[in-house]
Amino acid sequence: MNIDKVPYSAIWYEDAEDRVLYIDQTRLPWELVIRELKSFEDGVRAIKNMEVRGAPLIGVAAAFSIYVGAKGKLTLQEMGERLIATRPTAVNLAWAVAKMLEAESTVNPTASLLERAVKIRDYELDCSFRIGEAGLKIIREISGRKGGEPVNILTHCNAGWLATVDYGTALAPVYLAHDRLIPVHVWVDETRPRNQGAKLTAYELTRHGVPNTLIVDNAGGLLMQQGLVDLVIVGADRITANGDVVNKIGTYLKALAAFDNQVPFYVAAPRSTFDRTLATGKEVTIEERDIDEVLYSDDRQTRIAIEGTRVHNPGFDITPARLVTGYFTEES
Ligand code: MRU
Repeated sequence: MNIDKVPYSAIWYEDAEDRVLYIDQTRLPWELVIRELKSFEDGVRAIKNMEVRGAPLIGVAAAFSIYVGAKGKLTLQEMGERLIATRPTAVNLAWAVAKMLEAESTVNPTASLLERAVKIRDYELDCSFRIGEAGLKIIREISGRKGGEPVNILTHCNAGWLATVDYGTALAPVYLAHDRLIPVHVWVDETRPRNQGAKLTAYELTRHGVPNTLIVDNAGGLLMQQGLVDLVIVGADRITANGDVVNKIGTYLKALAAFDNQVPFYVAAPRSTFDRTLATGKEVTIEERDIDEVLYSDDRQTRIAIEGTRVHNPGFDITPARLVTGYFTEES
């Protein structure tokens, strides 16, 4: 999508220079910093520090990390294991690693690794667009019922183009609607503790020209009671066989509020996010994040709780399938 009318994607490969570039998301919204993935260790660091984040993008970044790491000492297996350990909840990471590892047996593994990484990127890009089209149908219907008044969509965390390659998952239908002149407005949950909503979602929507309003995480329920939310769309990091959705912490509470207020709650995700090997969300490893994310202000400069305060900081929660109205995928 665009940043001030210039088209960008979150990660890209430059053929002429044989290099992989990505936007460093830890510097947004203040600075647009483009970095090169020069080595396997660069890739591990970028995923771990959340310079790249969001389920589909982590998978694509892992694939390119293996490609750039192929000249190094580690085997594909070792690289795969290191990458999977960086962020345990998003299944796209393990999915992309498994696809890359299939290249080991080929005659020219390096060429094959590049081909596979590019294929994974193209797959995610294509999925995002199709997810957008699936969600667009619903937005169009609601817009019709509202006589062309803006459709109010609440979203959590960042499941926009920055979290994928382009378009996004939850935000893909929003971008398609906006670009096709269907009026939309997005309520953006700030998404404590790392504030991906405030820093990334509000940024990418604003820079593309989509009307949006930033709200604190606890405001969504009130807005639903007041009839100010037409639908909720979130992304997912893993969807288990029974349809449970593991996504950024706070998603479950939005789903409960949506259910109580009869607001449709949709989950947008490619098939690479569906994990048929796990029966329910309870089986998913929930990433436990650094306690400093909670103890300090966002710039990590000011402590906001006294010394000795105990902290628990799970990064994701589980929304039971019964609270989900439907799933937007590349196939629906
Ligand atoms: O910890 P993050 O920022 O990687 O978490 C991201 C999310 O929870 C997104 O909602 C998810 O990856 C959706 S997929 C675009």
